[in-house]
Amino acid sequence: EKGGYDHFMLKEIYEQPKALRDTMASRLGEQEVILQEFKLSAEEVKDLHKVFIVACGTAWHAGLVGKTLIERWARIPVEVDIASEFRYRSPLIDKHTMVVVISQSGETADTLAALREAKKLGARVVAVTNVVGSSVSREAHDVIYTWAGPEIAVASTKAYTTQLEGMVLLGLYLAQARGTMSPEKIGQVITALKEIPTQAQEVLEQAKDIEDFAQSFVDVEDTFFIGRSLDWNVAMEGALKLKEISYIHAEAYAAGELKHGTLALITEQTPVIAIATQMDVYDKTVSNVKEVKARDAKVIGITFQGNKDLAKSVDHVIYLPKTVVELAPILTVIPLQLLSYYVSVARGCDVDKPRNLAKSVTVE
Ligand code: F6R
Repeated sequence: EKGGYDHFMLKEIYEQPKALRDTMASRLGEQEVILQEFKLSAEEVKDLHKVFIVACGTAWHAGLVGKTLIERWARIPVEVDIASEFRYRSPLIDKHTMVVVISQSGETADTLAALREAKKLGARVVAVTNVVGSSVSREAHDVIYTWAGPEIAVASTKAYTTQLEGMVLLGLYLAQARGTMSPEKIGQVITALKEIPTQAQEVLEQAKDIEDFAQSFVDVEDTFFIGRSLDWNVAMEGALKLKEISYIHAEAYAAGELKHGTLALITEQTPVIAIATQMDVYDKTVSNVKEVKARDAKVIGITFQGNKDLAKSVDHVIYLPKTVVELAPILTVIPLQLLSYYVSVARGCDVDKPRNLAKSVTVE
């Protein structure tokens, strides 16, 4: 059932090109996103004043990326909430609010409770979920399914990348209904999105390289994952993955925030994973990388092919095929998933069933 892989997690990491392809299938025109299951009319979309994205864990990390995409493309203010926090802070919701819940399982207790609360307050509720017929899919007004197929490993991988894709589809769809993005611009993102499964495959081909340097993490106690903008959001997911399955402490930090308190924690014993794909802040990220390098940290950089100068400031670079910056998170997370996987294996951990965690959390 593991299809020749040692663990479900590795199998699921390798299933990502297919999962990504399946999730976009029949939803893309040349310059148009088609969400057949979506019942909200263009008029109703134009009438939205605000979007909340609510989720837990990895799904929340996908929501953080969703915020930037929706705000940038559809020009609607977006707040992102952890589901277990959302209900307890009297969120300002009315019928002009869209609440997007993201849940792989569609059964997470806090996410489901948030959905019910949002409905009660009159919001339009959209679910992004991977399980057909799940509680979340049944109770939401609209559903965008991710077509990742069953995810068995506790650590989420293909669910996350397809949730990111769901955020791209939703962001473009809202932008198109509101007329905030030209068909040409939408077409450019769609063309890039169609390349993503093949590019994800190319990233997977670097697994051996990642497996090799993962060995140097075996005795590490602390790590930092840094980046700006969407790179920071992916850093959070990378840090969670490492903590979750290898039990190494990992902290995700907005790269520009390090010097406001935590830089002193970075030493030669603290490997840093620095992500630099967001080109509008690239130079700033590179200068933050130089700051950690000056503290003797061992730094692994992740950036697009062609960004040659990062190599000068880091010990090792992982290059990603070029895409539009908003899609970069889908590719960036793959080496981070592989790193966590190989570190977990090297430390002899139970990769698929990490201690104290359940796949679906049905208590609050
Ligand atoms: C992390 C992980 C968890 C889940 C979270 C939400 O690898 O798997 O953080 O993402 O428990 O689960 P769903 O998406 O099923 O609501």
